[in-house]
Amino acid sequence: MRFSGLALAAGLPSAVLAGSGHQKTLGNDLSSGWAPKGKQPNIVFVLTDDQDVRMNSLDYIPLIKKHLIDKGTLYKRHYCTTAICCPARVSILTGKQAHNTNVTDVNPPHGGYPKFIRQGLNSNYLPVWLQEAGYNTYYTGKLFNAHTTDNYNSPYPSAWNGTDFLLDPWTYNYLNATYQRNKEEPKSYQGQHTVDVLAEKALGFLDDAVNAGDRPFFLGIAPVAPHSNVAAIDLTDEPNWDDLDGIEDLVQFGPPIPAKRHEHLFKDVKIPRNANFNPDFPTGANWVRQRKQLNQENIEYNDHFYRQRLRALQSVDELVESVVKRLEKYDILDDTFIIYTTDNGYSISQHRRNPGKECGFEEDINIPLIIRGPGVPKGEVSEIVTTHVDLAPTILSIAGAPHRADFDGETIPLNRKDLEAAIDTRHEHVTVEFWGIAVSEGKIFDKSEQRLTLNNTYKAIRIISKTYNFYYSVWCTNEHELYDLTTDPYQINNLLHKDATPPTHLLGVPFEKVISRLDSLLFVLKTCKGRTCIKPWEALHPQGNVANLHDALSTRFDVFYEQQQKKVSYNRCELGYLPDAEGPQFETDGVVYRKGIHWSEWT
Ligand SMILES: *[C@@H]1O[C@H](CO)[C@@H](O)[C@H](O)[C@H]1NC(C)=O
Ligand SMILES: *[C@@H]1O[C@H](CO)[C@@H](O)[C@H](O)[C@H]1NC(C)=O
Ligand SMILES: *[C@@H]1O[C@H](CO)[C@@H](O)[C@H](O)[C@H]1NC(C)=O
Ligand SMILES: *[C@@H]1O[C@H](CO)[C@@H](O)[C@H](O)[C@H]1NC(C)=O
Repeated sequence: MRFSGLALAAGLPSAVLAGSGHQKTLGNDLSSGWAPKGKQPNIVFVLTDDQDVRMNSLDYIPLIKKHLIDKGTLYKRHYCTTAICCPARVSILTGKQAHNTNVTDVNPPHGGYPKFIRQGLNSNYLPVWLQEAGYNTYYTGKLFNAHTTDNYNSPYPSAWNGTDFLLDPWTYNYLNATYQRNKEEPKSYQGQHTVDVLAEKALGFLDDAVNAGDRPFFLGIAPVAPHSNVAAIDLTDEPNWDDLDGIEDLVQFGPPIPAKRHEHLFKDVKIPRNANFNPDFPTGANWVRQRKQLNQENIEYNDHFYRQRLRALQSVDELVESVVKRLEKYDILDDTFIIYTTDNGYSISQHRRNPGKECGFEEDINIPLIIRGPGVPKGEVSEIVTTHVDLAPTILSIAGAPHRADFDGETIPLNRKDLEAAIDTRHEHVTVEFWGIAVSEGKIFDKSEQRLTLNNTYKAIRIISKTYNFYYSVWCTNEHELYDLTTDPYQINNLLHKDATPPTHLLGVPFEKVISRLDSLLFVLKTCKGRTCIKPWEALHPQGNVANLHDALSTRFDVFYEQQQKKVSYNRCELGYLPDAEGPQFETDGVVYRKGIHWSEWT
């Protein structure tokens, strides 16, 4: 059992822990019943839906800048591990990669609320652990997909003291949302803007939490902005994947709808014209590589879509300010951690794509994370690598609660000293994975284009240090990608495409040597559990003499990596995590190291 992320490890200021003796209590004596002694901080967790960082959304929310970015730390290299809502949200609330929750899609059979229930996670997720740690817990907004007016009570999401959930099929209907409070009947808010409705509910729970007495609180606020507006969506039953047109009829996507008071904003703003914006030549792999260039009408629509997102975010901006002001009114702002993030990123026109997510490009996976709270440096931008599976450990650390032994992530440093130490010691990788389909969420201009694209199944890693910056992926079609983001920040040159001319050398060694290490790292990570997800090189080098890609590139490991490791490959494309479709697995097929120390390690 491993209980690493104690409050002290989270770098909480001594004031928060004053006289608590937390570290000792937690580390040594869990079985006899742990009870918090010091004052535990309150936690407000704001989770937007589909908010990008790469198309500069953070530049258009001045109140969030004023209250969170300027008063806290922006984690510039924060990543989701699966770029779609439900799997990402389950990873946030469990601290586990999607391959360990097996909630890998937004809808049944492989995802959605019913799958969350079936995996037994309703009794094993963040609010359960927070209540055990002495917190009152509240949540309002979108929890998961396929959480509907039919299934919300069978069973009810557990371990919340107060809830007011958005429910399908009305979740993404900006002007006709359905919310469902505590165990009451669902209620329609026809004609009201969903984020404004949510703001009222969030402030109401904040009042409840403050008035509830001495226990600290966790308040989750999950607005639907800036997700697409969806007129109707009800895929609780397994869709018929052979009838893509039939599915299309169920789902009417369009740009998000801002509140009236924000409609006039940003008239001249356009999607940033970066190198990957609707490029003249095909990029990426698989279906992305086959896309046609977008025509002018499509581009203009996409710019409109982009502006509607920025406008819809204005209501979230105001919501955050109102929460900050309410905390200030109660004189608890400085004792409260506010964590702001989103489930996954978003892309519009990059790589010739129409509005959507679900890919491994930076637009889809690099997302906002801002934390303000006691001891968190103000106005700081950190470049350490953090991911969604780090959030549950971080929140438990803030709460002074023990970690779960099966967490796939680790506490995010929250004070200056730990942030600085992390530059040299923290993991440098992100494990990215996806199963199923990609969805084009805007209007379709090219009649030959399909709204849903199959075979969008892949495993990937992002790896970032002072000297390298790569994205490496293997698709279920066994196509590969490598982008060297140091020289190709917009990922337009896939060095592993069959038509590419890769460089002879990378990082001063032959190109193939770098690929062999990246592939072995992915091989370990694609099925990792717990500590191996955080320290994958230890699994390959149990002696502990390799801590990062740089160490692994040593020539003494050439034979080990180039001749003795299995390669990542798929047997076929599937819509969910069916292990027999996903080729060899490290635990059963990664041979050499398991039979003892390999000769290459003796020298
Ligand atoms: C994941 O769930 C699917 C059903 O959605 C099941 O068929 C599969 O075996 C599960 N995978 C693992 C590794 O348990
Ligand atoms: C919140 O729920 C927990 C667990 O049921 C309970 O112990 C606690 O008293 C509740 N708090 C309030 C204010 O009702
Ligand atoms: C709004 O939602 C309710 C269900 O909550 C539904 O009965 C009603 O028809 C919807 N109105 C419109 C205009 O779609
Ligand atoms: C999906 O990939 C398989 C190879 O695994 C290929 O045979 C098939 O044509 C692809 N289907 C689509 C819709 O791209």
